[in-house]
Amino acid sequence: MSCPIGLFYGSTTGNTESVAELIAERVGFDQVHRIDIAADGLESVAEYEHLILGIPTWDFGELQEDWDDLWQVLEAAEVQGKTCAVFGLGDQIGYGEWFVDAMGLLHNRMKEKGAKMVGYWSTEGYDFEESKALTADGKQFVGLAIDEDCQHGETQERVEKWCAQVLSEFGMAD
Ligand SMILES: Cc1cc2nc3c(=O)[nH]c(=O)nc-3n(C[C@H](O)[C@H](O)[C@H](O)COP(=O)(O)O)c2cc1C
Repeated sequence: MSCPIGLFYGSTTGNTESVAELIAERVGFDQVHRIDIAADGLESVAEYEHLILGIPTWDFGELQEDWDDLWQVLEAAEVQGKTCAVFGLGDQIGYGEWFVDAMGLLHNRMKEKGAKMVGYWSTEGYDFEESKALTADGKQFVGLAIDEDCQHGETQERVEKWCAQVLSEFGMAD
């Protein structure tokens, strides 16, 4: 049986990679393939019914470098009709004016291309100034926000709750 979920991530210092591992552990290693886009690119996106995409924000609101390098490939990818959830890494104290901005850019790109976006997540419990990754009413992030720099202790529980939500939104049994 083919694997239903492709989890694509880019990670400069390893935090997003660690969260990708936690997500795969929670979802079940038989349900999800993890793909480091620096090594394997984005070409296999078309093979999966459901997508989870992980991106940290770097350099004052910018895309992480591997996502930046592959942005045009993503533009060409066939994602119409796929269900997609994003998660983003950031630092709400050090970079509170640009908190997880890149997750917002990635979410918007996927939405424009016709993916069905799920995995929205409350901003409760975070303390930041501004973010480009918020819903119009400002009450939710457009995906899971993880802050390994300032709130490492929250990560495990956030991942567990979010994975249960996303599996349900993917229409998969938990
Ligand atoms: C130079 C630098 C710039 C950063 N810029 C931002 C930023 O604009 N917004 C944000 O939320 N986090 C920012 N961060 C925090 C990183 O996103 C965070 O450390 C993240 O966990 C890194 O993920 P990675 O290890 O997967 O690359 C920055 C960190 C550094 C060192």
